[in-house]
Amino acid sequence: MTMTDSRLAVDGGRKTREKPWREWPVYDEREERALLEVLHSGQWWSVGGKKVPEFEEAFARFHDAKYGICVTNGTAALEVALRALGIGCGDEVIVPPYTFIATASSVLAVSATPVFVDIEPHSLNIDPKAIEAAITPRTKAIIPVHIAGCPADMDGVLEAARKHNLFVIEDAAQAHAAAWKGRRVGAIGDVGTFSFQASKNLNAGEGGIVITNDETIADKVWSVHNVGRTRSGKWYEHHVLGGNFRMTEWQAAILLAQLTRLEEQTATRTANARCLTEQLSQIPGILTLQTDSRVTTHAYHLYAFRYDPAGFGGRSREEFLRALNAEGVPASSGYVPLYKEVVFQRKTAGQGAWCRAGRPIDYGAVNCPVCEQVCRDAVWLFQSLLLGDREDMQDIAAAVQKIQKAWG
Ligand SMILES: Cc1ncc(COP(=O)(O)O)c(C=O)c1O
Repeated sequence: MTMTDSRLAVDGGRKTREKPWREWPVYDEREERALLEVLHSGQWWSVGGKKVPEFEEAFARFHDAKYGICVTNGTAALEVALRALGIGCGDEVIVPPYTFIATASSVLAVSATPVFVDIEPHSLNIDPKAIEAAITPRTKAIIPVHIAGCPADMDGVLEAARKHNLFVIEDAAQAHAAAWKGRRVGAIGDVGTFSFQASKNLNAGEGGIVITNDETIADKVWSVHNVGRTRSGKWYEHHVLGGNFRMTEWQAAILLAQLTRLEEQTATRTANARCLTEQLSQIPGILTLQTDSRVTTHAYHLYAFRYDPAGFGGRSREEFLRALNAEGVPASSGYVPLYKEVVFQRKTAGQGAWCRAGRPIDYGAVNCPVCEQVCRDAVWLFQSLLLGDREDMQDIAAAVQKIQKAWG
């Protein structure tokens, strides 16, 4: 800890943290060797390749699933999964509003209608108790998102899904290695999707995978991701509407190397997150999140906490973020409620512009109060900060404390 000056950095004082944080991405000669191997093999795409099938098997096994199909990114993974389950025009899919756009835009991309359901304040994940009221005869699926790497309440989600015969698609884009009651997420429901985009805990720049335990779903996913071909069919034989969502051998080579570090990195993030929570929870105006005891591994793609201006002399979250960043701790405010994005608020959207067969939903009238409050008060720290040491965690807490003392 380098704090020597009680004057805030934002007011011209000395920064709490001068040293750089852990670099991201993490790589070494494992990635170098893997990339050169692909380069020299001349086998750069997955058809006939070895790296993509090897990674598909390794990642599916790691995530307690029988099948994995690599795709171009996490957005495509969701779209492919929805198409494979036959979800389309006129169907409704229940989604949380506290997530990245892809969770809901993928539903629009298959001409179905996203229906937003509020989140729980302690986990920031979909509230299973709110699902029932959103179900209509058109509802076909629920997409719980394991936001920030924290598994959603899969018991509650599966109960609602079973009762109404709905598919469950886990959006695990942020949840590599996360586990619910000892089982890794992704194939607890019918199908799960992951992202390997640059910020993610498992990173290939871009990339994604769909995992499942159901062979029929796996075959359909394979078909949709490979322009409607079938595993046993001819090259120019296309059975369903698909696209080219194939991953390259380069991405799989990087991912195989990255996967060798995932467990250790997850353990480091978990230990540091615990240490940070202990310190932050003692600071007035900081509300740390409670993790459900059924969450056996939180992947901590993000470390989120909530900010109460009352503990900080009424200063806004935006002022707090400016001050925290000035102290040398990179932090951000995160999402807005997804239904407030222009893509949903455009009047035509409410009139079912994407699919005229769908029930028209006026997204301007949607109000998920917990999500709205969280969007006003959440603070996010990026996962790579948690790859540091205990001194790094002390610096984060010291910066927050310094601001609280100055304003509180
Ligand atoms: C919750 C969630 N779903 C889906 C995606 C989409 O993944 P990608 O960026 O790989 O398309 C992301 C990525 O940010 C995400 O955070």
